[in-house]
Amino acid sequence: MKFQGSKQYVATQDLMLAVNAAVTLQRPLLVKGEPGTGKTMLAEEVAAALKMPLLQWHIKSTTKAQQGLYEYDAVSRLRDSQLSDAESAAKVRDIRNYIVKGVLWQAFTAEQPVALLIDEIDKADIEFPNDLLREIDRMEFYVYETRELVQAKHRPIVFITSNNEKELPDAFLRRCFFHYIRFPDADTMRAIVDVHFPGLKKALLGAALKTFYDVRNLPGLKKKPSTSELLDWLKLLVAEDIPLEALQSQDEKVAVPPLVGALLKNEQDVTLFEKLVFMQRNNR
Ligand SMILES: Nc1ncnc2c1ncn2[C@@H]1O[C@H](COP(=O)(O)OP(=O)(O)O)[C@@H](O)[C@H]1O
Ligand SMILES: [Mg+2]
Repeated sequence: MKFQGSKQYVATQDLMLAVNAAVTLQRPLLVKGEPGTGKTMLAEEVAAALKMPLLQWHIKSTTKAQQGLYEYDAVSRLRDSQLSDAESAAKVRDIRNYIVKGVLWQAFTAEQPVALLIDEIDKADIEFPNDLLREIDRMEFYVYETRELVQAKHRPIVFITSNNEKELPDAFLRRCFFHYIRFPDADTMRAIVDVHFPGLKKALLGAALKTFYDVRNLPGLKKKPSTSELLDWLKLLVAEDIPLEALQSQDEKVAVPPLVGALLKNEQDVTLFEKLVFMQRNNR
């Protein structure tokens, strides 16, 4: 059961090592990296490669750790208690009918081993990771309302992703295997593009990648374009049939690329880029 990348997903050697290390250690794999570097997709691909169902938990700023375990639906119980038929009355008497299982509960009690993705953990408040420590460590938790202990039948393979918006607590980090997805170098990026656009002309791809890395390496950029933005941009270049010449400036200097809105997402960055192009033109 080794992960080797897949047809749709380009995994570097060190990423594959990290996945397999986390599986061996039976620890969560904490994947950090810029947005768009394939963190979420990694979990999907590993689950598919290992033929495991993937349970996903997408974290928001308001998500609480408890929601991953279970929630007590008091509102439904109150509503049912106001109905007068015998069936509802019987239902109301048993609190278990109003315990809504969260993703962790589902993962723990699944019949077969599953993969579990806790996506963008850094979105939640600072307490969130600490609140899940014990559950992730011991793979069990207690349901106070029904006085039952939920224990994992099989230890799920846990993926935790972070875009690095917040630091994670040390006690939490200690329990994970960590991998940082570095931004792909040109060769890896070529392989990634090839997965998405198999027939793309080499010359066009070469010119597009040069422009893309030029834009990315611009000092002072607020938001660097990512892999997914490059893919969007290439899709547009192909759809609009943009000629190769539009991407290549004759004199090795930077030009404002067509459809730059796919790459740069705020006006400061566009202005910065235009200024640079303007200065270079004047320097000729
Ligand atoms: N290694 C890769 N192989 C293939 N496609 C990739 C890879 N990395 C990123 N992508 C593309 O970029 C998109 C964004 O990836 P995603 O997993 O959503 O990024 P993240 O979760 O890190 O923000 C994916 O849908 C995929 O099309
Ligand atoms: Mg993601």
